[in-house]
Amino acid sequence: MPRCPRPMSLLVFTILIASLTPSLSTAQSGSSDKAPWMNTSLSPDERAAMVVKEMTLDEKISMLHGTGMEGLSPISPLAIYSDGGAGYVVGVPRLGIPAIQMADSAYGVRNSGENGRYSTALPSDLGATASWDLDAAHEYGALIARELRAQGYNMSIGGGVDLAREPRNGRTFEYMGEDPVLAGKMIASLIRGVQGEHVMGDIKHYALNDQESGRNAVNVNIDKRSMRESDLLAFEIGVRDGDPAGVMCSYNRVNGDYACENKYLLTDVLKKDWNFKGFVLSDWQGTHSTAKASAAGLDHEEPGEIFFGDAMKEAVQSGRVPMAEVDDHVRRIVRSMFACGVIDDPPLKGVVDVMGGFEISRKIEEQSIVLLKNERAQLPLDASKIHSIAVIGPHADVGMISGGGSAQVDPPGGNAIMPPGKGQTHWQDHIWFPTSPLKAIRAKAPGAKVEFLSGEDSSAAAALAKTSDVAIVFAYQWESEGMDLPSLSLPEHQDELISAVATANPHTIVVLETGGPVTMPWVDQVSAIAEAWYAGSQGHKAVANVLFGDVNPSAKLPITFPKSEADLPHRTIVQPPRESTTNGEPDAWKKIASGLPAFQTTYDEGLKVGYKWYDAEKKPVLFPFGFGLSYSTYGYSNLKVTPGGKVRLTFTVTNTGKRAGAEIAEVYATLPATTAEPPKRLVGWSKIKLNPGESREVVVEIDPLYLSIFNVDQNAWQVVPGAYTFLVGGSSQSLPLKQSVSMK
Ligand code: BGC
Repeated sequence: MPRCPRPMSLLVFTILIASLTPSLSTAQSGSSDKAPWMNTSLSPDERAAMVVKEMTLDEKISMLHGTGMEGLSPISPLAIYSDGGAGYVVGVPRLGIPAIQMADSAYGVRNSGENGRYSTALPSDLGATASWDLDAAHEYGALIARELRAQGYNMSIGGGVDLAREPRNGRTFEYMGEDPVLAGKMIASLIRGVQGEHVMGDIKHYALNDQESGRNAVNVNIDKRSMRESDLLAFEIGVRDGDPAGVMCSYNRVNGDYACENKYLLTDVLKKDWNFKGFVLSDWQGTHSTAKASAAGLDHEEPGEIFFGDAMKEAVQSGRVPMAEVDDHVRRIVRSMFACGVIDDPPLKGVVDVMGGFEISRKIEEQSIVLLKNERAQLPLDASKIHSIAVIGPHADVGMISGGGSAQVDPPGGNAIMPPGKGQTHWQDHIWFPTSPLKAIRAKAPGAKVEFLSGEDSSAAAALAKTSDVAIVFAYQWESEGMDLPSLSLPEHQDELISAVATANPHTIVVLETGGPVTMPWVDQVSAIAEAWYAGSQGHKAVANVLFGDVNPSAKLPITFPKSEADLPHRTIVQPPRESTTNGEPDAWKKIASGLPAFQTTYDEGLKVGYKWYDAEKKPVLFPFGFGLSYSTYGYSNLKVTPGGKVRLTFTVTNTGKRAGAEIAEVYATLPATTAEPPKRLVGWSKIKLNPGESREVVVEIDPLYLSIFNVDQNAWQVVPGAYTFLVGGSSQSLPLKQSVSMK
């Protein structure tokens, strides 16, 4: 939600506060005689069980909901203690249980401007997924967590991993692409990075929140097998390998029930099949009932207490909600606090390491920029041989675009295209970071004449390009929560601009700053294309390092770039029925709590998400999943596949080029025909650093889950006996090594 909690009045509750403010009680000071749950040698489960036993019903209920948010729910006087993030949950000071301070933090900590603070923007989540680098994902999470702690937060509500089933989804940049194994492994590593710093992590939006249009009403229809093997698999891996404290259920309905009161999703799958130990929190105003939601497995309502406050107390007292259910909700919350270390090692406010953040953000972006085209070795540029460069594109003189909505990170100083001094961002503004590509390019080519034009006048831009050695066009596409893209085309006539510039200069390089895939009617006209995503706090430097060859690109697409929207599984995104509005605000907002009438979308492409769709439908694409060029080239040889509990692949990768680089070697599997699976699926990968001429033997062990199908009748994953073909190479469409084995 756009807004953040603001206390309504300070007057009434000074006295109340005094009684509830955490004071260093025996519990907190760790005397394990009086507060045995403070004994750190006990397990989080044991500690949580002891605490829950001591709690009164009111104390329990107080942990089952947030303290409110303007526009979404009433605000509790206790919200005064919020740190300014999206969620604040009171603690139980008497027992040494601190409050939970939650902040949105998809690619950095949100609301920093509003709170007078600074936070680092990392490359967008989808961008960073292009690194396929689990260590980078870990570092990404750890950086966010350190900055959260420095601001006093102990819970991150980032962790978006809805599968990019619909690339026009306005939150594609916040998610981790179209493959459940890649997305699941990357999010798990990110969560481990967060929780390693003693901040509770979260994974969201569970599940199938794959479009923003009508998200509070839409009912997603999908068969069980398809959902378990696609969208839910990303969450399953994230939960299994990342062990997050929280899972945020989504706004939409799934097969009839709202996700936040969907017993199948929350209890049968998440808590039983996956053995999730943490707590389920609702998306902001995604709770729609008390007894039904509680019984279905929702543990915590955000942002306020419409259903899980007094209404819950009444439901418990009247026997509609069993106390055991409430105890389980609270136990899960307190257990997560112990498990993540937020009780034993609470955050201490401090000054964030700005320079350290810059360094990490730049390095991750350097690993995330995907080189899509490089004809006649246009790149890297040799500054000593270039006399003139035309830098063209909206705002490329001052900055680079970022992703909006509740993921938005505030740039230092404010939006680069606004007058200085406006340090906070506003919902749905296009926010440009003060990361000027023009300046970064000038720094790399001090001897060249580097001129800038915005491209608003495409003839002027073409004329400048004509008289320059090379033209670099920075093209953008903005995305945000709360909207979907009308199409995959670049906005603001940028297609025409690129075409005009490329016609004038054969050495035209396009740098894309997009949330996800875009169509490229000019693809054959330009000599080079680099996808920089939303590039973060040091994006300009990372891009310049790639353009001028200080960094050899290694990233690979985590999402397919289709040739046109006509090739997507759905020609258009189903839209909600027209909503009535009052003063420009949809009336629907006022009815969200009680639930909006459903409208339907049906994911009948089922298992065929992303490349699996294009493969199965034999549709050629613009750039395939897993694709990305380097300034080097790599050869593959000697594949050996050893079947067993864990199939083991060994193969050799050789750097056949002249530069040191890193190759992401991808492993796909074709399952036996009897499984009726799409033609192939990603089952593993390895990122290998190689010097020119160097060869390395690579070992990839395949997790049996990734070779399984979901048997709905048995409610279990199953490896179907038969022939499995393993394919290895540098992209989903370049797989030179192949070997089949039989599995029993
Ligand atoms: C978003 C969540 C976010 C929450 C709190 C919701 O609108 O869907 O991702 O965490 O608001 O800001």
